[in-house]
Amino acid sequence: MSTAAPATIDDVEARLRERRYIGDRALATSIYLALKLEKPLFIEGEAGVGKTEAAKVMADVLGARLIRLQCYEGIDLAHAVYEWNYPRQLLHIRLLNESEDRRLAEREIFSQEFLLRRPLLDAIDNEDETPPVLLIDEIDRSDEEFEAFLLELLSDFQVSIPEIGTIKAKKPPFVVITSNRTREVHDALKRRCLYHWIDYPNLEKEVEIVRARAPEAADGLAREVAALVQGLRGMDLYKVPGVAETLDWARALAALGARSIDTSLVDATLGAALKYQEDLERVREKVPALVEQAKRA
Ligand SMILES: Nc1ncnc2c1ncn2[C@@H]1O[C@H](COP(=O)(O)OP(=O)(O)OP(=O)(O)O)[C@@H](O)[C@H]1O
Ligand SMILES: [Mg+2]
Repeated sequence: MSTAAPATIDDVEARLRERRYIGDRALATSIYLALKLEKPLFIEGEAGVGKTEAAKVMADVLGARLIRLQCYEGIDLAHAVYEWNYPRQLLHIRLLNESEDRRLAEREIFSQEFLLRRPLLDAIDNEDETPPVLLIDEIDRSDEEFEAFLLELLSDFQVSIPEIGTIKAKKPPFVVITSNRTREVHDALKRRCLYHWIDYPNLEKEVEIVRARAPEAADGLAREVAALVQGLRGMDLYKVPGVAETLDWARALAALGARSIDTSLVDATLGAALKYQEDLERVREKVPALVEQAKRA
């Protein structure tokens, strides 16, 4: 499989597919442009629609290293950029002879060798032949101060470490930022990126995804499961299933030897798709109707 930069939008789409990622034309266009314009790609969408996977597959398409920063509440620079390796610094000082120059030792312990490199520094200070793909995953979970810091990093692609100096990227990474939209990300950050919204797939696309990712499910089963999930997404649920759940469900049914769905099979495996007791209760009484509808689709 080729890993040269994709030459056209069709090329992006085809290479995603080769890696069993079913993206539509709009996503392929966004990726193509982000690469061409060297801008970060900001992907938003509901849970389990393939945001993280898109970045992983892109790294593979480009033959690049994937560097992932998983965001969470309270994430700080020590976890995202760098931290001094205190135990190692202490040890180094202890092992020094009394006679050795203390000032020299101090300079030594604040050098690259004593640095714990976290994902963002790793992505900036890379020596890779093909620049890495930097995935900043679920940015909506981080705090606003962290977002402000990212804004700066994404404009200059440099990190400054007081004891060492400024480190600038020789080759900027291809940045993919994802968000589940649990809160709005600041406009200033979005402005620096190309924006792409991934929606739930339609029936045809979801069948294709199941065929690509859960080939153990028979063709008819793949279609019925995809149709079932489409039905569930039309209901008023606390948490509607994403593509990840569709795949789990298809795999679960295939594991039970099913080649087609029926009411009792669906009832027994509902937990693959729904993860809240309230949703399970709400759906349970409608299973016969859902199954019938799915078989007609
Ligand atoms: N278009 C697609 N083609 C192939 N596989 C897909 C597609 N969309 C989703 N998947 C599969 O669905 C699963 C969930 O995808 P992923 O983890 O990327 O979702 P996400 O949008 O990052 O979700 P979350 O918001 O929960 O992190 C993965 O196993 C992925 O392979
Ligand atoms: Mg994800």
